[in-house]
Amino acid sequence: MEINLANTDIISILNDLDKEKILYLCERAEEMRDLEKDGKRWLLNNTFTGENQKVLAYMFYEPSTRTRFRFDTAMRELGGKRDGFTGTEGTSMTKKETIRDTVKMMEANHFDAIVMRHPKAGALQWAADVADIPVINAGDGKNEHPTQALLDLFTIYINNNKSLDGLRIGLGGDLSHGRTIRSLVFALSHFDDVTIRWAAEDYLGLPEGIHEVAERRGVKIIRERSVEDVINDCEYYYMTRPQFEKMGGEISESEIAGLLKRYRITLEKIRKSKARLMHPLPVNGEVAEIEFPVFFTKNQLFYQQAENGIFLSKALLFEILSDETYRIFRDRLPESLLVGNNRLERAIKNREKESLAIDVIQNGVVLDHLSYGTLDRIRSELALNEYSVFGGEIINDEKKAILKIKEGELSERDYKKIAMISPEPTINIIRENKVKEKFVYLLCENENCITREIMEDVPPKFYNDDGVVRCRYCGQRYNIKSRKVSDEEKEIFVKSLPEKVEKLS
Ligand code: MLT
Repeated sequence: MEINLANTDIISILNDLDKEKILYLCERAEEMRDLEKDGKRWLLNNTFTGENQKVLAYMFYEPSTRTRFRFDTAMRELGGKRDGFTGTEGTSMTKKETIRDTVKMMEANHFDAIVMRHPKAGALQWAADVADIPVINAGDGKNEHPTQALLDLFTIYINNNKSLDGLRIGLGGDLSHGRTIRSLVFALSHFDDVTIRWAAEDYLGLPEGIHEVAERRGVKIIRERSVEDVINDCEYYYMTRPQFEKMGGEISESEIAGLLKRYRITLEKIRKSKARLMHPLPVNGEVAEIEFPVFFTKNQLFYQQAENGIFLSKALLFEILSDETYRIFRDRLPESLLVGNNRLERAIKNREKESLAIDVIQNGVVLDHLSYGTLDRIRSELALNEYSVFGGEIINDEKKAILKIKEGELSERDYKKIAMISPEPTINIIRENKVKEKFVYLLCENENCITREIMEDVPPKFYNDDGVVRCRYCGQRYNIKSRKVSDEEKEIFVKSLPEKVEKLS
């Protein structure tokens, strides 16, 4: 089968790649590795120079050592140029510039591809939606880190007779807050007959969301009691550091270190094991989830992973940037970025269609089915008061948790703010005494999802993953809760969603 990755966005290892493409990239990366071993790195020096000149933008909103440098090195060794930022200081993000505009500015500056990292889950899918040039995800919040998973699989590939089927993998450390584990498990789920064993305290354990997706795709997942149970029964053991920065201070660092203690990788624990040890790095120098002497054993592949990342990134850039067509900067955003597909339409009852449906209101908006006790917060968040911007009257019906806004209109941002305070509000748009539109406004529940960042204006979008509703941006499952919505209405909504994360035009 012909594989063409030119201009492909690499945002999610689950949605953007498959078994054939991953194996293809491993083969290409192996060629890069062979050139290096044969002292022929220079052969590729002019790949992206002269008429084929390409420039890579890096946009790192979060710190990075390996990922940024590996793309930098890869591009340098292919003869391409690169520029960008690491950390937001010194950029207009300090003036609240959005991701959307920053991405467009990179494009206006004639970059050919973007590699980006951001603390919010889904920020990368959004960047890819906005950009007309390919975007590579270098990590988005707790969501995905697809190029790390690719280099991890490539490392296994070359140590495992070029096969990624039938693997027995162990996982340890913090499986809950990182993105490398999520992408690694999803990557493995493209292959056959994979068994994953893991051991960790509940707080650091493998999240249900990852478990569910992987099992549905045929991966066998077993929770064990101890590291020894895992490490003595796997071929590759993948350790991760505690992701303190993503825990939001829920538990103190010393408590986490305590939880991890039993799971540290020590010489004693690997004594009877033949498992090759992997880690995306960095190891936390204080917690030392891998004991120092372990670095000197032949079991470890940590540093090899790092160099394999260069070969893999070279292969990836080579494939993605191989299209030589001249690209004209498109200075308009596509309409598809303006609205979500998150409005679950509700049937309008005959009496509502006819008239006097919602008393007192002739023209305006009625917010129905709000959670009790949220009215005041909603009013203050929307700056609604008797003399509000709408110049209208606000009828605050506490008993029924309804907010009626007379002669007023609400914006998409307003709906989002309301849904963040009171999930799944029913919105009734009233014109001349009749209900013209009635829908439940759905918003991804993942607090770290980019769709919940008000200033970014990312329209909530979902897709239908075999009957499961998922957020287009962070991939989190969404269960419709509103009791007022009938099963039929839900079914119509789910069926109306696209079946996968498709490129928006
Ligand atoms: C990441 O950004 O997720 C790193 O590559 C791994 C880590 O920080 O633990």
